[in-house]
Amino acid sequence: MGPLQIKDILQTSPENQSVTVKGWVRTKRESKNAIFIALNDGSTIHNIQAVAEPGQFSAELLSTVTTGSCLKITGQLVESQGSGQAVEVKIEDILVYGTADPETFPLQPKKHSLEFLREIAHLRPRTNTFSAILRIRHALAFAVHQYFNDGRFFYLHTPVITASDAEGAGEMFRVTTLDLNKLPRTEEGAINFKEDFFGREANLTVSGQLEGELGAMALSKIYTFGPTFRAENSNTTRHLAEFWMIEPEMAFFELEDNMDLAEDFVKKVITYALNNCKDDLNFLQNRLTEEEKNKPQNERSIPLLEKLSFVVDNPFERLTYTEAIEILLKSKPHKEKKFQYPVGWGIDLSSEHERYLVEKHFKKPVILTNYPKEIKSFYMKLDEDGKTVRAMDVLFPGIGEIIGGSQREEDYDKLLGRVHEVGIDPQNLWWYLETRKFGTAPHSGFGLGFERLVLFVTGMSNIRDVIPFPRYPKSAEF
Ligand code: 4AD
Ligand code: MG
Repeated sequence: MGPLQIKDILQTSPENQSVTVKGWVRTKRESKNAIFIALNDGSTIHNIQAVAEPGQFSAELLSTVTTGSCLKITGQLVESQGSGQAVEVKIEDILVYGTADPETFPLQPKKHSLEFLREIAHLRPRTNTFSAILRIRHALAFAVHQYFNDGRFFYLHTPVITASDAEGAGEMFRVTTLDLNKLPRTEEGAINFKEDFFGREANLTVSGQLEGELGAMALSKIYTFGPTFRAENSNTTRHLAEFWMIEPEMAFFELEDNMDLAEDFVKKVITYALNNCKDDLNFLQNRLTEEEKNKPQNERSIPLLEKLSFVVDNPFERLTYTEAIEILLKSKPHKEKKFQYPVGWGIDLSSEHERYLVEKHFKKPVILTNYPKEIKSFYMKLDEDGKTVRAMDVLFPGIGEIIGGSQREEDYDKLLGRVHEVGIDPQNLWWYLETRKFGTAPHSGFGLGFERLVLFVTGMSNIRDVIPFPRYPKSAEF
């Protein structure tokens, strides 16, 4: 598949054979006896070292070999003289594909802040940190498809443009071709969406679940994995306006089965990363250790690989929302009025509450179930008491909610009742409601926020740093 890459060459045994390496210069170092060029092509976190003799190339050529420039180097693969690498390239020829003027190229071999790198998102994949994150992100996406394929789930492509608000939260981006300066009006003066492209109001999807349920009512087990859009104005380190969500939906699964699947699924994909992204995870682990080295011992986080192994090796704690509220009411921060938001049955848990449960009380991932119906979506199955629903949220240390899911209401009358209660127009959901009329079945599903998973696995602290080109309020460059 194309020419050998640096990852392949680094694993080749050096026999003075001739090799060609192509990549971007990370550093160039000149000493009395040699010129060292570290080249990286993104196939691995490791650079290959190429060595030339002083005087072998003109000063003019060497002046164009600078950090960020792109080169083709041919030479001999030899055992490395120095420590730090097994092989190196003894340079015979250098071709400069593209220069990178050091006066203007923003990435120099020094530590740049993540905030600064966000402003140059077009170049940040060329840093060690971001290339590691992007390779891990890829591996996780691959593991997701592999996991579901092995489990006989079918990948269902749900629409990006929809006319329904799946989560009922009303945080949608409108899709329209109407001229905003000359909106067509109805006789009553409202905007006449009949004249819009789809002949009705349309939005970018907030979830593929509703269509996913249609698929599960035919194929039994499906999953979606696609871009999802939310116009919530949450300027946090956990929210994006455009993120990727994985949503499995399964006929004949009850809430217990759903929890078992969610737990097994996240553990398996994390295991895949542990087994296949060792170098990148090690790099990120060291980066974190380095970053925290000035903190007192008790404020440092556990090493990344240890944290990941811990999650894989230990069962998640499962309890009901009601039990969680009891724990919070008895907690020290509640008694000492340290929580910013009040605690009581019926509240929507805020992230400080979730993090207390996960990080302080249980010290491991937690699955909370049976939330009050008022704070959850209309499609969740009502419990016998009529007060709570069969919801489940998976909460992770450092992240908070990573998965949200539920058993679905399969009873037509009850579901219609909920639709009316929350004020959704049933006309807009006629097709969804019909699944409960024709061959309804118990079923369940959940949604995993892909970036929150990548955040957890890479140990990064801002969600904007684990997607190549983040979208958030006031930012859609690149
Ligand atoms: O809990 P949510 O809103 O659930 C749903 O959308 C359901 N339809 C899922 C289902 O049952 N099929 O979102 C699911 C997950 C959250 O747990 C979170 O990880 C992620 O999606 N998420 C976001 N990630 C990044 N930025 C945002 N703005 C997010 N909103 C939700
Ligand atoms: Mg949720």
